[in-house]
Amino acid sequence: MQRDTIAILDFGSQYTQLIARRFREMQVYSEILPPATKPGALRARPLRGIVLSGGPDSVHERRAPRCDPGVFALDVPVLGICYGMQLMSHMLGGDVRKQNRGEYGNALFEKRGDPRLLRGVSSPTRVWMSHGDSIVRAPEGFAVVGASGTNSIAAIEDAERRLYGLLFHPEVKHTDEGAAVLANFLDACGCRRDWSAASFVDEAIERIRAQVGHARVICALSGGVDSSVTALLVHRAVGERLTCVFVDNGLLRKDEAIQVRQRFAERLRLKVVFVDASKRFLSKLAGVADPERKRKIIGREFIGVFEDAAKKTGRAEFLAQGTLYPDVIESTSVHGPSVVIKSHHNVGGLPKRLKFKLIEPLRELFKDEVRSVGLRLGLDEDFVYRQPFPGPGLAVRCLGPLTKERLDLLREADDIVVKEIKAAGLYRQLWQSFAVLLPVRSVGVMGDFRTYQYTAVVRAVESADGMTADWARLPHELLARISNRIVNEVKGINRCVFDITSKPPGTIEWE
Ligand code: XMP
Repeated sequence: MQRDTIAILDFGSQYTQLIARRFREMQVYSEILPPATKPGALRARPLRGIVLSGGPDSVHERRAPRCDPGVFALDVPVLGICYGMQLMSHMLGGDVRKQNRGEYGNALFEKRGDPRLLRGVSSPTRVWMSHGDSIVRAPEGFAVVGASGTNSIAAIEDAERRLYGLLFHPEVKHTDEGAAVLANFLDACGCRRDWSAASFVDEAIERIRAQVGHARVICALSGGVDSSVTALLVHRAVGERLTCVFVDNGLLRKDEAIQVRQRFAERLRLKVVFVDASKRFLSKLAGVADPERKRKIIGREFIGVFEDAAKKTGRAEFLAQGTLYPDVIESTSVHGPSVVIKSHHNVGGLPKRLKFKLIEPLRELFKDEVRSVGLRLGLDEDFVYRQPFPGPGLAVRCLGPLTKERLDLLREADDIVVKEIKAAGLYRQLWQSFAVLLPVRSVGVMGDFRTYQYTAVVRAVESADGMTADWARLPHELLARISNRIVNEVKGINRCVFDITSKPPGTIEWE
């Protein structure tokens, strides 16, 4: 069954993902697409409506992104938000002017008349504005249906053609009644509200079957949620024709390889090829202290190991990857992929030369949606709500030259941190909590002996998305217990410190 779809043309706003997100919360399926997507491609979908997102540009700039004019003639409702509204006005003959003073932050909005998208919305109502240009004349056929303090044209509507424009951002929580506005738009589009994790699973399985036919599929299991959910979906679709590869790179947390074996091979009955490549990785990493070099070596070795394993498991035509919605958006954004702060190595990112056809069943989902799909597929809550763990593993938490001995120390310390945080009932509310091992040694005293050993750091942060983070105010008693246990139980660590740096200016990981 094909699902009613809202297409969101992305003009580069930081809020574009949120628009899709809000629709999803209202059980409507939406897709984010490049701004110049052709009307033909849009029509190829079960299209019910189009949103033109906000964006940082001014319509008067030569390189400002535009949509195809045919978008307005598809006979579905179109909603322009902020830049999207300005663009729609500009392209349909209105007058958009650069203003000396933009409007940023909260504003009071008042509606005029009884516009379709503002039904049931109070007037005035608090909205979120973020724009430089203003519309000084609406295009022909449009009525002005709302104003804010500094803009007499803050909402427009052409009821007959079902074209709508809002200068404020209804997708942002600071717009008090934004959800009602978006719901009105969905009603205007006549969308069925039938999107859910369950319907997603059924459709994804159908799609994978259609795509794969009788071919074989390979999937790199990283031990994380995304690749696991991907593997389970593909397994439901093609059964034994899926082979998973799990690489132990020697940089995993304590007992991680064993847990993957129990969970996936034994309990969920996936065919998993385990490759113990820890010696190979550690010999390449021996003595390497530079963070970027560590990452590059790990990325390169992973590809080599995976390639070897893939050859041995027999010819697979398809590679299943756990690419999520935010990853897709980065690569389709008008201004190209966002700036990379660290050269992230994700197990999913295998090079094109491996010549696999790609299956990416989670491309449309956000992280929490992936979690609910995982639960439906039989993963346990403990696993599904795991904190993020970086692709290069403990390598970026073991500062200085890597050796097996120091990684073992870190594994033990980290295990204590995680267990204590879980025992305190804090694991799920923290974005991440883990140990870092420093290459610094200091003097201590244990019983009658002087010690000269390494230092462990406890890192615990709260965050919504990992982009910014605040250090968690852990209870002193908990910190005391963690410190006590690490120093007493991990032979080789005699000092424990707590990291009280937020991001920015720090990063979450130490490398
Ligand atoms: P930073 O340290 O940049 O991390 O504040 C932000 C988030 O990204 C994770 N992270 C990585 N994830 N490969 C990954 O898959 C990497 O190389 C990598 N480096 C950082 C980090 O754990 C945090 O959640």
